[in-house]
Amino acid sequence: MTSTSPNNASPYGTLPPASSPSTRKPVSLPRLHEMHARGEKITMLTAYDATFAAVADAAGVETILVGDSLGMVCQGLSSTVGVTLETMRYHVESVHRGVQRVQGTAWIIGDLPYGSYHESKEQAFRSAAMLMQAGAHMVKLEGGGWTADTTRFLVERGIPVCAHLGLTPQSVHALGGYRVQGKTEASAAQLKRDALALQDAGATLLVLEMVPAALSAEVTRALPQCATIGIGAGVDTAGQVLVLHDMLGVNLGKNAKFVRNFMADAGSVRGAMEAYVRAVKDGSFPVNAEHAW
Ligand code: KIV
Repeated sequence: MTSTSPNNASPYGTLPPASSPSTRKPVSLPRLHEMHARGEKITMLTAYDATFAAVADAAGVETILVGDSLGMVCQGLSSTVGVTLETMRYHVESVHRGVQRVQGTAWIIGDLPYGSYHESKEQAFRSAAMLMQAGAHMVKLEGGGWTADTTRFLVERGIPVCAHLGLTPQSVHALGGYRVQGKTEASAAQLKRDALALQDAGATLLVLEMVPAALSAEVTRALPQCATIGIGAGVDTAGQVLVLHDMLGVNLGKNAKFVRNFMADAGSVRGAMEAYVRAVKDGSFPVNAEHAW
């Protein structure tokens, strides 16, 4: 007799069988809008494989970003510029499988890598479709006003979009390093204009990375239809994101200022993720004086 799943428990990892029932309601686009309208903080964490994604889902993380930061934390690259679309597809598929195996609750965001959406809206659609077919519910793309037309094109074709302003790591060479953005009056005004254009184009979420806390608070207030998700952008954004390895302290170097090591007091990865969710929800992370500019 042939069987698609083995009878013995696997010695590798502890994910339940693929058919395990879900107990919570999946996060949806209306639910994200509803949380934003209610002022409930949205939690986001990166994950790149099935097991960590499943644990994040079980810990109550609402949105999982399969970020191109995987180039640095998984592939050992010195920036995200070398990450390919095929690599992103592979990791989105893995995360999707992990989430489905446990709760099936988390909203999965696939990061469009460098070069996969820059040429044309059509190229962006083809790249986004590849990640959606791999299991993403939304795609993320970096960049200012020039990405607004692409965002509109994707949204009109049924692809929810997360925008990304401030420090956009795919442009690290043009920006001259990983620096705080929006510090001058002119660059702050440009960032606000870009944020409004992206909301107008239909972006549902907007990552604000390494932006002064006062500016990100102002942008957040100006965007009723688009929830800001901060990383090094202060406490007043509509939600927060951290890179998994950073918040678990899996890091041989010095963490960035905006990171808190949630593993230090947690005792388990799931405990660390639950502590992160609690801290974001109750506004105790981040602390402006400690984690922001
Ligand atoms: O790639 C990534 O993980 C990201 C986050 C840092 C927001 O873009």
